[in-house]
Amino acid sequence: MEIVTIKNMKDHLGKEVQLRGWVRHHRKSGKIQFIVVRDGFGFCQAIVVKAEVSEQVWTDAAALTLESCIKITGTVALNPRNEYELQASALDVVHVSEPFPIGKKEHGIEFLMDNRHLWFRSKRQWAILKVRNTIVKAIRDFFDDRDFTLIDSPIITPTSAEGSSNLFKVDYFEEEAYLSQTGQLYLEPALAAFGQVYCFGPTFRAEKSKTRRHLTEFWMVEPEIAFAHLEDVMVLAQEFLQHIVRRVLERNRFELEILERDIAPLETSLQPYIRMTYDEAVEKLKSLGSDIEWGTDFGGDDETMLTNAYDRPIIVHRFPRVFKAFYMEPDPQDDRLALGMDVLAPEGYGEVIGGGERASSVDFLIDQIKQHELNQADYEWYLDVRRYGSCPHGGFGMGVERAVAWICKLPHVRETIPYPRMLSRKTP
Ligand code: 4AD
Ligand code: MG
Repeated sequence: MEIVTIKNMKDHLGKEVQLRGWVRHHRKSGKIQFIVVRDGFGFCQAIVVKAEVSEQVWTDAAALTLESCIKITGTVALNPRNEYELQASALDVVHVSEPFPIGKKEHGIEFLMDNRHLWFRSKRQWAILKVRNTIVKAIRDFFDDRDFTLIDSPIITPTSAEGSSNLFKVDYFEEEAYLSQTGQLYLEPALAAFGQVYCFGPTFRAEKSKTRRHLTEFWMVEPEIAFAHLEDVMVLAQEFLQHIVRRVLERNRFELEILERDIAPLETSLQPYIRMTYDEAVEKLKSLGSDIEWGTDFGGDDETMLTNAYDRPIIVHRFPRVFKAFYMEPDPQDDRLALGMDVLAPEGYGEVIGGGERASSVDFLIDQIKQHELNQADYEWYLDVRRYGSCPHGGFGMGVERAVAWICKLPHVRETIPYPRMLSRKTP
């Protein structure tokens, strides 16, 4: 008798197999018991018929509580709803679970988050993390297939890169250091060694904002390419995000069904993205009723409004330099603008990718460092990129959780990562 996973049951129709897993649901109806088993790979109903099993199996099954761990043996059958089932013959109870805290009734979000370590056994949370897994693999494959070299950037850094207001301070042997806000500054020097590179790891922002889009610890993937201009970065970002969406559509139909995700908007997102300048975006927002002023960054509500007005992702480019990072290349056509771009996900989600072309002149960067009131000495190593064979280059960063939230159509990023870290949560 073979031990199989629920996913592989279809290859064993009519055969006797053993499943190992946990009791998700248990119901007794006269001389039949229905046990829904979860094994990490899928969900399956096992049917225990009193007349067909020993007295022991019948009473052991009757005593099962939710989330008890079992090994159950039986014959694989296909039911009229076209689902694979197990007609049980034997049951080995590995552990009878104590009363499981998460039940059928409605629980508040704080209770579920306190029990995150148990909550991700639920079908919906399981489906989300399976999609996340596909996305992470799709990201790695995309860059591997295009001959990018992985450059792991450090988590502890001496400098800020994305503004100093949201840095996490670390006591580094009595000196001040920070948790990394981005790997970008460490990628740029690697270009002259490897041509095109990426990093992918945890990223930290001490965000004081409690929004559905912000975590304090999230996973960011960042590619960086030598000789790339803004246009190349926009093309790469679109191909990258489309690759991820396509992969999820190919591999996660079952999970998307569990999430009741309408896949039509995802399919539309395989079409070319809409492009607009920041100026055009501001005009559009005003026409939609926003009170945004030229020269200010989009708020969450603006992004929601703008992305709800279109049926696919939008690339907004050429932002005012005043609210963008110090390292951005200025627009040669208009010195007030930076050659930056954001990809905004549709259906109200907003920014999932941010990036652009980097400043390649050492003098300009030194001036920027001064204007942003940063300490030049801390950035000398970064300036070296512009001293020894400077080249035009660019890249972007995508927050994995924002992508998962959109693709799964979730109300909040907290469900997209196994153990979310937010302003008001650092447990479990
Ligand atoms: O737009 P950001 O701040 O850009 C950078 O950090 C660049 N250095 C990236 C680069 O060009 N290499 O962040 C990039 C992306 C955002 O578009 C968003 O998806 C995600 O990171 N992100 C967050 N995700 C969750 N919670 C937060 N607090 C996030 N902050 C940024
Ligand atoms: Mg951004």
